[in-house]
Amino acid sequence: MKSSSLLLLSFLLGVCGVQGASSFRICAFNLHHFGESKVKKSNVVHTLARIITRCDVCLLQEVRDMKGKAVPQLLDHLNRYDPDHEYTSVASERLGRSSAYQEQYVFVYRTDTVSVTGQYQYPDDREGDVDAFSREPFIVRFKAPKTDIKEFVLIPQHTTPINTTKELDALYDVLQHVRKMWKTENVMLLGDFNADCGYLAKKNRKHVRLLTARNLYWLIPEKTDTTVRSSTSCTYDRIVVHGERFARSVVPTSAAPFNFQQAYRLSEDQALEVSDHYPVEVLLKGAADRVSLSVGTFLSLFVLKMLT
Ligand SMILES: *[C@@H]1O[C@H](CO)[C@@H](O)[C@H](O)[C@H]1NC(C)=O
Repeated sequence: MKSSSLLLLSFLLGVCGVQGASSFRICAFNLHHFGESKVKKSNVVHTLARIITRCDVCLLQEVRDMKGKAVPQLLDHLNRYDPDHEYTSVASERLGRSSAYQEQYVFVYRTDTVSVTGQYQYPDDREGDVDAFSREPFIVRFKAPKTDIKEFVLIPQHTTPINTTKELDALYDVLQHVRKMWKTENVMLLGDFNADCGYLAKKNRKHVRLLTARNLYWLIPEKTDTTVRSSTSCTYDRIVVHGERFARSVVPTSAAPFNFQQAYRLSEDQALEVSDHYPVEVLLKGAADRVSLSVGTFLSLFVLKMLT
């Protein structure tokens, strides 16, 4: 009895070590028309700061910052709200088929835990998938020495609802291109894929290689609501990981939407002022996790030996 409780204790020590180190968070957040009018509302920008500073890397979508002022102001807020880290960003050009409606992808990240080691704007007239996307992925490679995976690539996508099937399928080609270009298997695809409800019909799913291909792990469970409105329940926002190595360095079952309305006790209207989507998030295992696990195992064995 006594030895088993000691064993349990040392096992728990090991587990605690794992959880303590597993705090590297990647997020994807559709900000629903983020621009100057949003950044001027102090309650909205405060909530945004609370949400975004949870993340080591946060992909922002639907950034419509015409004069290029709203993103720098948001960064100022983040840095004031969370002085323990320094936040900066890397952004795509304005993307979209018509000049009347364009969006940018913006990655906000902590300079003390992550650095950018490459970026690549996927062109919009590639052979084979002529103009597949409304907003071609702006692909960024990150180095994060404190994570188990160390280095990874993020492919963002905010699909156009009526073209969801085609765009998701075309993302598979983007993935193959990036694997070859940067000789890496550690790729994550993330964003508001509109991958549910009326935009991705069941009968069309078999035509989407991003869904049917082996070696791709869709981490946000089906039937998870990533929308704020209580009248909708759709799993639009997704995180998909390529490769077994990357999948293993994700903290199991950590991928989920972050219900900021509930977490910060907002009314639906207050939450909708921020966005009509929840961010989706996933945790990566820390580089120390394996070490603390083996320390835990070692301790357990040691205690066992002492008692027998
Ligand atoms: C859907 O895709 C087609 C090209 O395949 C494009 O011509 C059309 O403009 C797209 N629709 C939207 C709303 O982007």
